[in-house]
Amino acid sequence: MVAARITVNGKEAPISPAAPHTTTLDFLRERGLTGTKEGCAEGECGACSVLVARPGVNKPTDWVAVNACLVPVAALDGQEIITSEGLATAGEAGMPSTLHPVQEEMAVRGGSQCGYCTPGFVCSMAAEYYRPDRCAHAAPNSGAGSDPNSGAGSADGTDHEHGPNGFDLHALSGNLCRCTGYRPIRDAAFAVGTPTDEDPLAQRREQSPPAPVATEYTQDDSVFLRKHTLAETLELLRERPDAVVVAGSTDWGVEVNIRSRRAGCVVAVDRLPELRELRVESDHIEIGAALTLTEIERRLDGAVPLLAELFPQFASRLIRNGATLGGNLGTGSPIGDSPPVLLALEASVVLADADGEREVPLADYFTGYRQSVRRPGELIRSVRVPLPLSPVVAFHKIAKRRFDDISSVAVAFALDVEDGIVRRARIGLGGVAATPIRALATEAALEGKPWAAETVEAAAPLLRAEGTPMDDHRASADYRSAMLGQSLLKLYAQTIEAVSS
Ligand SMILES: Cc1cc2nc3c(=O)[nH]c(=O)nc-3n(C[C@H](O)[C@H](O)[C@H](O)COP(=O)(O)OP(=O)(O)OC[C@H]3O[C@@H](n4cnc5c(N)ncnc54)[C@H](O)[C@@H]3O)c2cc1C
Ligand code: FES
Ligand code: FES
Repeated sequence: MVAARITVNGKEAPISPAAPHTTTLDFLRERGLTGTKEGCAEGECGACSVLVARPGVNKPTDWVAVNACLVPVAALDGQEIITSEGLATAGEAGMPSTLHPVQEEMAVRGGSQCGYCTPGFVCSMAAEYYRPDRCAHAAPNSGAGSDPNSGAGSADGTDHEHGPNGFDLHALSGNLCRCTGYRPIRDAAFAVGTPTDEDPLAQRREQSPPAPVATEYTQDDSVFLRKHTLAETLELLRERPDAVVVAGSTDWGVEVNIRSRRAGCVVAVDRLPELRELRVESDHIEIGAALTLTEIERRLDGAVPLLAELFPQFASRLIRNGATLGGNLGTGSPIGDSPPVLLALEASVVLADADGEREVPLADYFTGYRQSVRRPGELIRSVRVPLPLSPVVAFHKIAKRRFDDISSVAVAFALDVEDGIVRRARIGLGGVAATPIRALATEAALEGKPWAAETVEAAAPLLRAEGTPMDDHRASADYRSAMLGQSLLKLYAQTIEAVSS
């Protein structure tokens, strides 16, 4: 097996002697690439953002921004990354480097003061700069001297979150700046133009990304392993039931950094082709457990409206670029955001081990706090969403911040309303019990009743009483219960117009 290596800014480097748990952030800084910063080491600040060449949605390769503090460098064996240092073009002997267009805009718009967050912002901004389906609404290259706000709020699709250049500000939702203020950063984002044909990173998108490689990276008494196929991985997990499985590492990376957890054997599943399929069949949609949330969001493109409501409320773009559904269900957290949505969709999980596969309704999957029916050696292969979909849907995530926050309570609704009568109601709840649950009493109270204010007012107290919410640092039990009831009233207010029209 070839020694583990990674291509950083066009140059190949051995991963050794980094430990298998070493983060990409620490690896880069150890090599002198100190533009990549550590602000929090838990995926919250984006100071560590770097670009990874990944399979593209509209081109062979997308430049995807991820949190280097969460991804073990061993997980990037054979892969290609760009740091803030690699964005600028090195000058000929004795000549200064030429700034990358996003760096240039950040400089001339005053988007940087102390500069600590800037390399991370620049990498997240570069990923959006190279997004192939970003389309300019107005003159694409407004240049350093023009007014980036001129198109804001106009009829051409621009608003305060989307620039005239098609820049989606949510690309920066995982980046924090403590001193500049976000206005100049937004100005820079809304002023970047379109990559030229000569731009090497734009050209790189036209070729395939590096293929995943099998990895066996051992240092001292721990090993990081990646196999080519699902069958090989399941065989490995049979032999090593003690192994920690990782996909995007957005949960596992926090465990390593903040709780100092170490594993003797880590097995990566994020590049397994069998876990990265997305298929629309006549009676269900099959979503691979190792597709990232960004990939699912872009590939479904709104085809499952309840999932489309979930994605923007799930963490930040940086986290969604790594996070998977398999990981969200694998942690079994009672406040994970996908379970309420998948419960309302009546999804099931396909579990695979070396002996075969089984399908388990998600409603039967969780058995206790962070416990599930998944056996040692078993992987989540995919999530199945049955068709047809209920038309009246909503996902209400109640959290302290609008974006990039963990839920206090989450409620997902999927209702069939025909001729003004609720024919079917499915409601998934998170944050109100040791596991995500269905609101069975409320569902029963709604079914067969008119979709009317009286029905909703009678059912809201039942929803308030579902689960056994607790007091904790995020919210009190009373607040959580109150929010449940409110969410049904909100759904009614939001949907009554659409349903009656
Ligand atoms: C800053 C930040 C913000 C976050 N915000 C949110 C949020 O808003 N909502 C939310 O729900 N979560 C949030 N999370 C948690 C996390 O991003 C999600 O749980 C994510 O879906 C985990 O996916 P992953 O692929 O990164 O999992 P990993 O970290 O790779 O793995 C997590 C667990 O799942 C297991 N696992 C992974 N894949 C599989 C598989 N295919 N089969 C079996 N087990 C598997 C692993 O063994 C591990 O125990 C946040 C995390 C961070 C750091
Ligand atoms: S260091 Fe804060 S997100 Fe990585
Ligand atoms: S420029 Fe100082 S933190 Fe952003």
